[in-house]
Amino acid sequence: MTRVGILTVGALGNVATIVAAGLAALRQSGAQRSGMVTELPLFTPLSLCPPEDIVFGGWDIRDGTVLQSVRGFASVNHVLPPGLLAEIEADPERLGTEIFPGVSTNCGAAIDALGTSPSRVRCGSLETLVATLQQDIREWRRRHALRTVVVVNLASTEPPLDPHSLHETAEGMEEIIARNRSDAVRAGTLYAWAAIEEGCPFINFTPSNSPLLPGVLRRAEVRGVPVMGDDGKTGETLVKSVLAPMFGCRNLTVLSWSGYNLLGNMDGEILSHPENRTGKITSKDGVLGGILGYRPHSHVGIDSVPSLDDQKIAWDFIHFQGFLGARMSLQFVWQGFDSLLAAPLVLDLVRLAEFAHRRGDGGLQPQLASFFKNPKGVDEARFNEQFGMLRDYIAGIVAEENPAGRAASGSS
Ligand SMILES: NC(=O)c1ccc[n+]([C@@H]2O[C@H](COP(=O)([O-])OP(=O)(O)OC[C@H]3O[C@@H](n4cnc5c(N)ncnc54)[C@H](O)[C@@H]3O)[C@@H](O)[C@H]2O)c1
Repeated sequence: MTRVGILTVGALGNVATIVAAGLAALRQSGAQRSGMVTELPLFTPLSLCPPEDIVFGGWDIRDGTVLQSVRGFASVNHVLPPGLLAEIEADPERLGTEIFPGVSTNCGAAIDALGTSPSRVRCGSLETLVATLQQDIREWRRRHALRTVVVVNLASTEPPLDPHSLHETAEGMEEIIARNRSDAVRAGTLYAWAAIEEGCPFINFTPSNSPLLPGVLRRAEVRGVPVMGDDGKTGETLVKSVLAPMFGCRNLTVLSWSGYNLLGNMDGEILSHPENRTGKITSKDGVLGGILGYRPHSHVGIDSVPSLDDQKIAWDFIHFQGFLGARMSLQFVWQGFDSLLAAPLVLDLVRLAEFAHRRGDGGLQPQLASFFKNPKGVDEARFNEQFGMLRDYIAGIVAEENPAGRAASGSS
């Protein structure tokens, strides 16, 4: 068994759709790999799993197929490589056709409204739901003869989950599930728990705080399963985490940083609900204070503009103070295709999580911090320093595997 699988939570959403279409495209020669960090020469020594061998699957609570999602995406966002849709139409099996019904426990009204088909949403006690998700993973892995399955949360952003004392330990999490305390979890918790119990790495690409609870992390450490999150860093926050350190290094005082985000896709629609938006705003806004060491006036706005579809526009206005108190400003506009920015990073994370799993590294993976807006267990918020952590990780592995080379370079 050599192949690796990705099971996505939210398999019919935009990001998952582009992951599936991207995998199909990568199997053709000549597909453009820009945007995939792990295709940089830096990663050559790691012998990561080839992306063209990754098998796609997942769960969703909506009706549909991945092929329909790719068609829908292509019809409004004219950015897929020419000919790709026709090739996929000719051989839809390449996309990954198995999409399991999902769970939507305690996800809030906006997400409940998506799961309109009862056959797409599983019901039952928490114990039953977790057991069903574990069975999905186990059988899918067996059917496709997969060495490892990485579970990636790409579902709609949930409302934040309030902390509970039982969240603190793995035993507390078991008690929540055994006593069917659905008020103390959300669907994201159940997917993460099921993945870890099945020994599968879990990546939380969403801002939802329900998957990587402290007790879930403890279980991942004990099981030797890599986990990381939260919230993929693909656009405005990526630029913020590069620019903010510049003000610090030049001793320019940031007085105010206001960012306005216009999103057109279903993610934007879900985030237009105040309870779902809270988690996203917290994770976008948290970066500044961590970098600057003080909290300037700041604002993060998110508006849904349906006609933009997958395009995302961020306009940021930064007001700062320099020598003798002079006030100046910087503005930037970031415009991109949300899912084409996100999907290659999802593939990077699958490859790096599978690699960490192969090495037996369980629990949080701080070397992956640069991929996230709110990297769990990492205080460093500056992008370059976060990327340096990944460089150091690779250098450490190279040195480990080649101790003679290290000794030679150390003595020169
Ligand atoms: N696109 C980006 O650049 C980016 C960056 C960072 C984070 N994210 C996050 O990634 C997630 C996915 O983004 P998207 O643009 O693909 O969103 P989307 O709205 O297109 O897709 C979300 C999918 O999740 C499904 N879903 C919702 N709840 C589910 C559940 N409990 N179980 C199974 N499926 C469920 C929905 O039916 C939908 O198909 C969002 O949370 C978003 O905030 C995206």
